[in-house]
Amino acid sequence: MPNSCKPSLIVHGGAWAIPDEAVAAVHAGCRRALEAGREILERGGAAMDAVEAAIIVLEDDPTFDAGTGSHLNRDGRVQLDAIVMDGSTLEAGAVAAVERVRNPIRLARKVMESCEHMMLVGAGAEQFAAEQGLPLCQPEELIHEREKKAWGKCMGGNHLSEFHFSHQHGTVGAVARDAQGRIVAGTSTGGTCCKRPGRVGDSPLIGCGCYADAEAGGVSCTGWGEAIMKVVLAKSAADFLRSGQMASQAAQAAVELLARRTKGTGGLILLDRDGIPGFAFSTPHMAYGYVAPDGSIVTAV
Ligand code: GLY
Repeated sequence: MPNSCKPSLIVHGGAWAIPDEAVAAVHAGCRRALEAGREILERGGAAMDAVEAAIIVLEDDPTFDAGTGSHLNRDGRVQLDAIVMDGSTLEAGAVAAVERVRNPIRLARKVMESCEHMMLVGAGAEQFAAEQGLPLCQPEELIHEREKKAWGKCMGGNHLSEFHFSHQHGTVGAVARDAQGRIVAGTSTGGTCCKRPGRVGDSPLIGCGCYADAEAGGVSCTGWGEAIMKVVLAKSAADFLRSGQMASQAAQAAVELLARRTKGTGGLILLDRDGIPGFAFSTPHMAYGYVAPDGSIVTAV
């Protein structure tokens, strides 16, 4: 591993049909997340800390479908999934279907660092959170008024209608490479609107919604989980990197694989092993941003 590398950071706020009225909030959220992660990397901090900090900003921002403000399931409750993966060791920690954890990415990291298992779900994950000293919130604290209204419309007969499509929004993720060359990727989501209680999508599954391997790069995905799982999208993108494709080509090849083999839509961000960013999406928009080589922040939808 090199003695000192230039740090890199890329984030996303989901691949979705971002309406005009959400564009400013999406840019602002991605910018704040990048600022939080960049500050850590610039002072020589760890990629793991940068990814966690960036994702916490996005989880706390109700603009995105992660943490507070996530979509409600059929029962009118928020159920959250998250994962973090360390490309140096291939260690990962994941949680799914948690209802009382404000920042599931923080719990995923605790699972990675302090648990004998790689993934915990539901009540068991919340019990572990309490044991680790993470505060538990009331489930209602994660519910945003906008989502309550959307849920009411969906359950009132508009489920899967045009309304539902334009309403579906953003899983979040981040990939960082620090000055020691360590690559870490993370993903966090509230999943799909009106999902069945207990439904788990791609996001917290290693290789599906997230993958990191220092020999290839790090990847975080967004989109329709039931399709993404079929092509193990994050690992597929990492394999394209491993085969020698450039970052942007690997991202595009992975999204094309998703479309060709599943007809599913989605997107992803990645860093190759040298920290070069890449991104691609097949949805109308994807919210994303990265720290440019001169240290400035670029965001786009
Ligand atoms: N990609 C997020 C989900 O399907 O849950």
